[in-house]
Amino acid sequence: MSRNFYLYPVWVRLWHLTNAVLCIILIITGLLIGIYDPSVDAADRYQSRVSIHNISGILLTISYIGFFFGNLFTDNGKHYRARIRGSAKRMWRQVRYYVSGFSRGEEAPFPVDNENKFNPLQKASYIGAMYLAVPLVIISGWIMMYPGFLARLPEGFNGYAFTDTVHIVLAIIISLFLVVHLVLSITGRNLRSIMSGWKESR
Ligand code: HEM
Repeated sequence: MSRNFYLYPVWVRLWHLTNAVLCIILIITGLLIGIYDPSVDAADRYQSRVSIHNISGILLTISYIGFFFGNLFTDNGKHYRARIRGSAKRMWRQVRYYVSGFSRGEEAPFPVDNENKFNPLQKASYIGAMYLAVPLVIISGWIMMYPGFLARLPEGFNGYAFTDTVHIVLAIIISLFLVVHLVLSITGRNLRSIMSGWKESR
């Protein structure tokens, strides 16, 4: 039997859309900044890439603050609280379902309901993305926009290069998350849910 649950309130859908668009712009402009070659490209092209990247980063910060406080003060936050005990076992059950059970038409091991919007893998990846990778990429981006603070670090330590490396590694992690997230959203037929708010439990 399948049932419908209203799991994505309007604010989550608006935040998610803004966040997705900004992340995609940031990934593309970040890549274009990385491959900029001064011997071929005009300097103003570099500057416009940096400007779009920085403005999107500032907007991402504002949207992240909305997400953070939205989760703090609404019911949506409960889906981001993890039980560490037994989590590896639960994630493994979900992996097994994705790898073989799903194609054999087996019942999902963690059916969706109002108390459990995410399966264990979704929960772990969303917590990792939203409470680790995204805030750290934002913080490292702000540090590079205002590098004056790095001057206080001990001499000989290239704080800017270090922050840049951290920023790039996190951007790669978020890009990989996005690819997996897209594949699972499409195969799991969830795209309609994040637009309408309703999810069907199978
Ligand atoms: C084109 C880009 C994207 C598409 C099509 C997409 C698709 C979806 C879909 C279908 C869902 C609902 C299914 C589910 O609950 O698992 C969802 C939820 C979610 N997505 Fe995305 N996503 C995109 C980009 C992103 C990005 C860039 C991030 C973070 C860096 C992200 C983070 C999340 C989170 C945290 C949720 C759960 C929101 C909540 O209900 O609290 N998504 N996404």
